[in-house]
Amino acid sequence: LAESTVSITVVGASGDLAKKKIFPALFALFYEDYLPKHFTVFGYARSKLTDEELRDTIGQTLTCRVNKRENCGDKMEQFLKRCFYHSGQYGSEVDFCKLDEKLKEKEEGKIPNRLFYLSIPPNIFVDVVRGASRSASSPNGWTRFIVEKPFGRDSESSSELTRCLKMYLAEDQIFRIDHYLGKELVENLSVLRFSNLVFEPLWSRNYIRNVQLIFSEDFGTEGRGGYFDHYGIIRDIMQNHLLQILALFAMETPVSLDAEDIRNEKVKVLRSMRVLKLDDVVVGQYKGHTKGGKSYPAYTDDPTVPKGSVTPTFAAAALFIDNARWDGVPFLMKAGKALYRRGAEIRVQFRHVPGNLYKGKFGTDLDKATNELVIRVQPDEAIYLKINNKIPGLGMRLDSSNLNLHYSERYSREIPDAYERLLLDAIEGERRLFIRSDELDAAWAIFSPLLRELEEKRVAPELYPYGSRGPVGAHYLAAKYNVRWGDLTTDSS
Ligand code: BG6
Repeated sequence: LAESTVSITVVGASGDLAKKKIFPALFALFYEDYLPKHFTVFGYARSKLTDEELRDTIGQTLTCRVNKRENCGDKMEQFLKRCFYHSGQYGSEVDFCKLDEKLKEKEEGKIPNRLFYLSIPPNIFVDVVRGASRSASSPNGWTRFIVEKPFGRDSESSSELTRCLKMYLAEDQIFRIDHYLGKELVENLSVLRFSNLVFEPLWSRNYIRNVQLIFSEDFGTEGRGGYFDHYGIIRDIMQNHLLQILALFAMETPVSLDAEDIRNEKVKVLRSMRVLKLDDVVVGQYKGHTKGGKSYPAYTDDPTVPKGSVTPTFAAAALFIDNARWDGVPFLMKAGKALYRRGAEIRVQFRHVPGNLYKGKFGTDLDKATNELVIRVQPDEAIYLKINNKIPGLGMRLDSSNLNLHYSERYSREIPDAYERLLLDAIEGERRLFIRSDELDAAWAIFSPLLRELEEKRVAPELYPYGSRGPVGAHYLAAKYNVRWGDLTTDSS
């Protein structure tokens, strides 16, 4: 039987994503012996570089796991020897033909499989796919393309992109990445739900009052204002990362762990969601702020952001799933840049205990202190459940304490970066964590009318100081549905 080989071509090799995430993830996979025995990595970009120059640049970004440093230098050298560079124009079939020749040389008669990672701006996706698929597809192995958002700006532009990609590729060749699906705790969501008896029976409107999906960053859009201004936080985080988490959280039990079964359930739940209305959304934008003698810029101070831009850097939204399981349960999302901390978490607030014997007694406001399950996606991964508990002692006093699964205490191994998991899955043809085109359509359908309205009306975002907790409007929105946002910093342990 002929041996096979994988050639991984990173198109846009000199970009930030490639340097910060893709090459380091490939190295980590190599270091952990997850890459196939025969593989080559090619960087493809317009600049003229030699193989050595590419190796020098990526060499600087590779790191080793904290607890596995032995042989790291040797491994890096071995990895870099398998990295090559090809300079070409993105729209040129001739340049992809030349790449094809180089790939063939390295493939040495083995069955060639080819993976292209498009780490490039969206306006050239289709050019590259056309050139690479026509001139550098594998003749008798598989050829796959990883693409990363933005997948359009709304339903129409996204369908158009899909239509164009499908002129050259079959759906099963397209791997649409949402890197949040590669995060450890997001992957664990299904395990938590479907293999623990104590959670799934509670997972519905009968016991859950509301679900919160929160993303916050403590830095602004400095350096990428040009990109960001065209998209805004709703397209950058909510329509993809947070919505994907929501779909996994809320979907029905899939028939199996097979990719199509899981994605079928995700599409179903997304299609049961109500189209988002302006009344259920609050938008914000950060303004300059001085704290402790240090000053922080406003979003519009960035020279690449048009003056007077109303692009939101913060948004909060209340979403609903109109199906039997979730009827009436608010799913609140909040996403923002330049806030007071960095973190991503899922918070599940449970209903009150009916006829609670302890209500109004023993020092706890049990109206507030309902059970809450928190899944902290990052940083400092953890799952904890807030319970009401008796404070030890002869008297009877209650407090709210956490049942805690703190990853760094429980597991000594380092958590792999999301890109490692996703690259490995793409190489292995595992599609579970990639977005199918009907999922993408369903996701856009929820947000597109709102996005259009925000732009047509030029809705003014509520300004919030850089480094603050965001606009107060988010609290009013939550209050409208009787919800209080959970807050990591006030969680007792
Ligand atoms: C990207 C967004 O998809 O996710 C960025 O475009 C954001 O704006 C990033 O900063 C956050 O990813 P992570 O993995 O650092 O939480």
